[in-house]
Parts: sequence; structure tokens; C-alpha cells
Amino acid sequence: MTATQPPAVRVERAGEAEWRIAELLARMTLEEKIGQLTLVPGGGGHVPPSLAEEIRAGRIGAVLNEVDPGTVTELQRLAREESRLGIPLLVGRDVIHGFRTIFPIPLGQAATWSPALVERGARVAALEAAAAGVNWTFAPMVDIGRDPRWGRVAECLGEDPLLASRLAEAMIRGFQGEDLAQPGSIAACVKHFAGYGACEAGRDYAATSLPETELRNVHLRPFRAAVAAGVASVMTSFSDVNGLPATANPLLLRDILRREWGFDGLVVSDWESVPQLAVHGLTADDRASAREAALAGCDMEMTSRTYTDHLPALVRAAEVPPAQLDAMVANVLRTKLRLGLLERAPALSVTLPAPLNDAHRAAAYEAAVASVVLLKNDRAVLPLDPARLRSLAVIGPLADDGHEQMGTWVFDGRAEDSATILPALRARAGEQVEVRYARGVDTTRSLGQEGFDQAVAVAQDADAVVLCLGEESILSGKRTAARTSGSPGAQAALVARLARLGKPLILVVLAGRALALAEVVPQVDALLYAWHPGTMGGPAIADLLFGVSAPSGRLPVSLPRAVGQVPIYYAQRRTGKPAWPAQVIPLDAIPARAGQTSVGNTSYHLDAGFTPLYPFGYGLSYTTFGYAALALSDTVLRRRSALVVSVEVTNTGPRAGEDVVQCYVGDPVASLTRPVRELVAFARVALAAGERRTVHFTLTAADLAFHGRDHRLRAEAGEFRVWVGGNAEATLEARFHLVDDAGHGDLAR
Ligand code: GLC
Repeated sequence: MTATQPPAVRVERAGEAEWRIAELLARMTLEEKIGQLTLVPGGGGHVPPSLAEEIRAGRIGAVLNEVDPGTVTELQRLAREESRLGIPLLVGRDVIHGFRTIFPIPLGQAATWSPALVERGARVAALEAAAAGVNWTFAPMVDIGRDPRWGRVAECLGEDPLLASRLAEAMIRGFQGEDLAQPGSIAACVKHFAGYGACEAGRDYAATSLPETELRNVHLRPFRAAVAAGVASVMTSFSDVNGLPATANPLLLRDILRREWGFDGLVVSDWESVPQLAVHGLTADDRASAREAALAGCDMEMTSRTYTDHLPALVRAAEVPPAQLDAMVANVLRTKLRLGLLERAPALSVTLPAPLNDAHRAAAYEAAVASVVLLKNDRAVLPLDPARLRSLAVIGPLADDGHEQMGTWVFDGRAEDSATILPALRARAGEQVEVRYARGVDTTRSLGQEGFDQAVAVAQDADAVVLCLGEESILSGKRTAARTSGSPGAQAALVARLARLGKPLILVVLAGRALALAEVVPQVDALLYAWHPGTMGGPAIADLLFGVSAPSGRLPVSLPRAVGQVPIYYAQRRTGKPAWPAQVIPLDAIPARAGQTSVGNTSYHLDAGFTPLYPFGYGLSYTTFGYAALALSDTVLRRRSALVVSVEVTNTGPRAGEDVVQCYVGDPVASLTRPVRELVAFARVALAAGERRTVHFTLTAADLAFHGRDHRLRAEAGEFRVWVGGNAEATLEARFHLVDDAGHGDLAR
């Protein structure tokens, strides 16, 4: 499909745009206005006569899940040429981590800590989707993921608001390009607004109960960043947020999104989340649901028809003011205008790149390589050296599965386009190394151990064993994917059986979440966490295992020792009785009938302690990095000034590598208790062996600001601590004071 190039000179001034929207609104009937608020599923490769009729009548503003270029062209022709006002359609699709070329799942992309790689992935996805006629995608998903029991944690950008913010901005740039009206640009949609990641017990769709300060200081931050980055649209969450479902939540949709943040794009509900207001128990019926959602500021209704059915009467009865309806329609028209859909001049056709071309595959490969996190490498069993290998055993159901490695939320990627691990290992090992394969277990879920003997037979003759285990893609993502266990099925038993052989055992985990691997990790020599790495996951993993590339991923989420620790994340508040290592008494060291207070009077689990198996930001490489000479440009930061934090990073190991230098800040005393530390900046740094470089981070009062008791955003004067290092447990520390030279004590942003 060719995209449309707007006329050479398209100057949109805010006044002109608003004038055009007002002019169009003035010509619209009530039914046509409501039509713009209606998003319906496409016909899946054809135009059903009923859909054609509704488009002609101006009762449809957008379709989703239609990606046949010819069908999309016909849908747009119907809208432009056969409806009274000729307003084209938004054509939406979940292009979450790729269209035909699939990139690592967003959680894996977050492990790259690279806005540049994330932006490039979104750009490739946009080009491929736009070529099919898609002009709107429902990404980035920026729900904060601190509970790996929640299946949708696979789609998010990790546990930390700052990392999620920087990567969301990059994704939006990638999707929307410099100009939303340019060919290949598609409108982004930040979701799910808001608090979805805090669903109770990690159960998808469960209620979210969050104090407003926590909502603002953690969960809303990446949404605010997305709005500031110019995201075209916002999707409401299914969530019941503190008793008010997000789809009808005036605090979220009106007060914060519109009034405080100044968002002027469109708000779309999630799939049938408008009628679900009655299921929540907020309303008694569809009419009331339509009213509550419209009044709260949910502009467009996804796939249900309560707006079509009830808004005409609600507006005529002034239960929904006509001005409110016009504002909702204006938000949709403004988005279409920005997409260039309302241009009057004939469009020029532009040919977009073919999907899965070499450049797109190369981008997916590079993102996959950078997403993999090396968590363990005892005895330096990695990288493998083909010259020192006679044979290699590859075991596991995920070693050669083009479907599973793509991960969840893939609608247009095809398994046959994937380059899988096993052939890539064979290619990288070369002719002189015998690579033998055994499945070991039927699937990642299966409990049977009938495949173990064959796996052992293959492994016992090999010089090294690569295990590819984890989670099938359906076990993460939406709905079914809330899970309460560690690695599913009989996989842990398989690891234990193979570990008894005493061979170098390398575990590659493919999963859509942080799995609890405490029982498995001690039995393997090396552990590579590859998430679901996408189309090019095979060559990426093979090249990392053989050292063609070096691992550089860093954890975007804390890895729990046990599911019982969840939620576990680094930016916890200290509490009045914080635990510390000396306090944690191993369960089996507690004497029988021990005295009531003998097990430590602080905050930790008797059977798991209080620290994760691996912390946020952690990751190894094939070299090592040192941090020294932490210096501050001043010991005082003033309201309008900036403070530069400098640190010397040295590659102290034998080969080149990339590190992610992380800067954390702690606010030990404040009007609200603050997290023990929070990420404020990070930088990927490539260093040759022995190379030393000074990395600088510039901090201002804005980096220290938080929403206080009155929900106002401000930084409070006082002492701050700063740490720099390679993960959230960094110890290299300095201190500074934030002072308010105007003497107010508070520093509004
Ligand atoms: C789903 C998801 C949302 C997705 C939408 C359209 O219910 O919650 O993330 O974008 O429907 O497919």
C-alpha cells in the first residue's frame, strides 16, 4: 500500500487548525458527530455491507484490526468519497513491538535501556504498519510493572517511572516521526491510563487501590512524559481506580490529563470498557455508562456502541452538554488533522519500504542483542569458543520455535519469518562442532518427564549444554496470563537432572516476565535472560553465546527469589523498621520455641529475606566495569541552577563492552516519606578494554520534585544523597543540599 504524501507546503498554525475544526463541526449533524466517536472492528480483509453503509452515513470515525491494504483503501474511499463530509477514518492496530518484523517484547526493549534502539524499533513498526494502511497504534504501554504475576507486564517498560518515561518518549518519536502527517508516521496511543499495573494480586483487570500521591509520583509519571512528548492519543484502562473506573474517572481524564497536563489529543476507551462500567457497578445500564464516560472525557468508544445508541438522547436531554460532545469530536478531528487526513489537496503517493527487509531485520537483531541480560557467568563458561568445542547440546522446547520467541501481542508477525536459536547456533558453531538437539519437555507447561532421558543422552556426550527454557508466549500478555508460580511445568526438574551431569550448563530464559528462579540458578553455570526476543532472537542469542556480541542488557524489573516476595521493586519506602542483611536470620537457623522477638523486628520474609535475586538495573557483560571519582559540581543546588554529577567509568576487563551507568537520588527527609532511592538518569557507555571515561549527569530541582500532601509538584529544600553505579544497589555515594535561594523552602517545578 502506498502512503499519502500531503501537499508540499502544509502550514498548520494552531489558529488555522482550530478554525478548520470549528468550521467542520458547524456543518456536522448530531449523528455525524457521534459517528466520529465510534471505533469498530474491521471486517478482516473485506468490507461488510453493513460497515460500508455506516461509513457512508457518517456513523463511523475509526476502525481497528483491518490490515489488508486493499480493504483499508476501500474503507477510506468510502469515507472520503461516499460520506457527506468526506472525513477519513482512523485505522488502528496493536503494533506493540513490531508489525511484520517483530522486535523484543517491550519489557525486553526496556532491558536495552536505549531510547535510540527503542525509537528505531517503533519507526520500523510504523513504516511497516503504515504500508498496510494503519495510521494509529495502541502503544506505548507504560503501566508500571512491579508485579510479575501480572501477564501484561510483558508489554510494559519496567518497574521504574523514569526509565519508562524516557523509553515511552522514544517510542512515540519512532511511531509519530517528526511530523505526524508524513508518510510512514502513525499516531501513538499511550496506555492504559491509569494504574493498570497495580491491579490487585497481579490478577489482570482486578481493582487498583492507590493513594493519589502514589498514583501521581509513580504510575502517572510516564503518562505525563508521553503527553509532554506529543503523544497523539491516550487509552483508558479497564481498571477500577480507587472506586472510579478509569474510563469514567474525571480526576484522571479531566483534571489531570486535560487541565493539569494540557493534553488536547483524543482519549479512546479500551475494548468495551464503556459498557463495562455497569459491570463494575458504577452505572446501572448502557445509557448511564455512556453518560458517565462522556462527561468524564472519554472521547471515543472502542468496539461497543453505547455512544451510538444513547448519546443522541443524552445530548438532546442536555444530560451530556452539546459543548461537551463538540469538545470530544474536536479532539478526534484534531488528531485526524494532525495526521494529515483532512488535507484538501490531492495526496501524492509514496512507496514505503517492504516489511522484513534487511534493514528492518538488522534493527530487530540489534535490539534483541541489546535486550538480553547476562545474570550469571560462573567459571566464565561464556562466551563459547568453537575452537575449544567438539560438541554442543541444545535442549528445550524454545530452542527452535519461531512463534514463541516473538512473544505476546503479535498480530501480524509470522513464525516462519523468525530466525530461531538452534539453526543460528549451528551456523555460529561452524562445521567442526557437532550440535545435537533434544526437546527435553514437550512444552514449557508440560509436566511429563518422558523426554528427560533423551535430553540426558544428548547432553552427556557434549562439551557444553545450552538450555532454552522459560514461558510460551501465551503464558504472558493479556487475560490468561496472570501466574503465581516460578518457571512453569517440569522445567526445573529438567534443569536439576541435567545439572547432575557436571557439564557447563548455560540457561537461556525466554519469558514475558521476571520468573522466580531461585531454585534453578544455583544449578546452572550461566544465565542469559532473553525475554521474548522477536524475529531475530535466534541469531542474537547465538552471537551472544559465542561472543560475537557481548551482553549489555540490564534488568528493567527486579527479579524475585520467590513469587511470595511480590511485589518487589527497588524504589521502596524505608518504613520505620527497615531490614538489613545482618537482620535476616535463615529460617532453619531459628531455634525451636525461639523468643517472640528473636527473629528480628524488621521488615523481611523469614523464608526469602527482603532483597531480590537480582536487582533492578543489574546485568553482566564479558568484561567488567569500575566506577570511581564520583564528584559533584557543587554541594549546593539552587532553584534555577543545575548540579553536574560526574563519575569515572572504566572497562576493567579483557574486552570491549557496553555498560549502563545509572544515577540514583535519595531524599532522606521530606514532607512525605520518599523511596529509599530513585533513578534520575542513566547512560549507555561503550568502552574498549582498559578505556576510562568520565560520565556526567546534570540534575535540576525538577529531577527531585514529587507530588506532596497537597498533590502539588515541588522539590523540597534539604539534603539529598546521590549514588552512581551499575544497578539499583550502587554504593558509590555523594551528598548535596537543595536550597531555595528565594527562601520559600519549596521549589515548584
Ligand atoms: C485490548 C487491550 C488494549 C488493546 C485494545 C485493542 O483489550 O487491553 O491494550 O490496545 O484491546 O486491541
